[in-house]
Amino acid sequence: MFDELLRAWDGEEVVVRYDAPSGTWMFVCVHSTALGPAAGGTRMKTYGRPRDALADGLRLSSSMTRKNAVAGLPLGGGKAVLSVPEIPNGEARRSLLLRYADVVESLHGTYWTACDMNTSPADMDVLGERCSSVFGKTEAHGGSGTSAPATADGVFVGIRASVKHAFGTDELSGRTVLVQGVGAVGSILARLVTDAGARVIVADVDEIRAKELAVEVDGDVVAPEDVIGLECDVFSPNATGGVLSAESIPRLRCRIVAGAANNQLAEPDDAERFVERDILYAPDYVVSAGGIIHLGSLEMLGETVEERDVRIAAIGQTVTEVFQIADVERISTERAADRIVQQRLAESAR
Ligand code: NAI
Ligand code: PHE
Repeated sequence: MFDELLRAWDGEEVVVRYDAPSGTWMFVCVHSTALGPAAGGTRMKTYGRPRDALADGLRLSSSMTRKNAVAGLPLGGGKAVLSVPEIPNGEARRSLLLRYADVVESLHGTYWTACDMNTSPADMDVLGERCSSVFGKTEAHGGSGTSAPATADGVFVGIRASVKHAFGTDELSGRTVLVQGVGAVGSILARLVTDAGARVIVADVDEIRAKELAVEVDGDVVAPEDVIGLECDVFSPNATGGVLSAESIPRLRCRIVAGAANNQLAEPDDAERFVERDILYAPDYVVSAGGIIHLGSLEMLGETVEERDVRIAAIGQTVTEVFQIADVERISTERAADRIVQQRLAESAR
């Protein structure tokens, strides 16, 4: 049932484990170790079928290769998916995580994990009991904690660089930024753009969360289902993947798309639709690299917070470079960013 998916994938290795006590399928997808150990978070989620979970892991892991390469980190790309029948808590969660930790440990450092959807620094502490290749444990356990603030900082500089490219100045006052998803990353981002003078509109399936944040930043709320057709300067997806599609892109009424959500494009070719619409799409894997930069810089490279911040600020320069390549070569911004990735991979091969 997995053969088609694996045959079509260009990665290195997938470890599959069925965990009978919890009914969980574990997929550890090592896409590339060309630049260093494959790094990417562990996603815990309920999927319709195991093959949907594998498909998600395969695609997310290849995005991590590109994300880490374009961020200039000595890391390859990987991702793990724990496809659970329902999100476990308490002892059931702990014992599942420990069994999963044994799987990661059996890869001897080929794959380094950290948080992703539905996994937290506290979960990383549990993995750390049995496994040495874990980023993002709590500070109490010697890790660097949550990566969300660093991710939001990276999205913020990515938005600024996009605004500069579109409007000739990176001034945010007078601009409207629509933030879809105001969880860990989106809420911090909404505060950053507000402090920089923008008007913020927020949307979240958690209505209370959206309302409270809107009050805090003196912004507005829009219903989640009305996000796509709403007029704004910047649309920032920070909720789930797949929001940019053949169906949604023609309906967007924004000049810029820049957000942290992984795999925003429903299909890779959807990037071409932005060219037709004259919308600047800042590729998700470029803009969302702040989190992995935080982990890689502080925990792997042993850098200072100041050195980490220099790397995060460089996301702005990379976004600008991507737009310039796209303009000169008349290609989509996704393809332009992929050029930078291919260059970094080729340099390392030499
Ligand atoms: P989170 O789970 O804290 O927040 C996501 C928010 O989106 C929640 O408030 C949720 O209610 C909301 N949401 C879900 N579906 C929605 C919908 N259809 N419409 C509107 N709101 C919806 O997640 P977090 O950490 O803030 O991450 C956001 C995105 O950024 C995710 O896609 C994640 O994979 C990605 N990302 C996160 C990084 C990090 O450091 N946390 C790093 C890189 C990417
Ligand atoms: N899960 C986040 C991402 O996709 C942060 C992360 C990156 C965590 C890499 C671990 C390793 O970017």
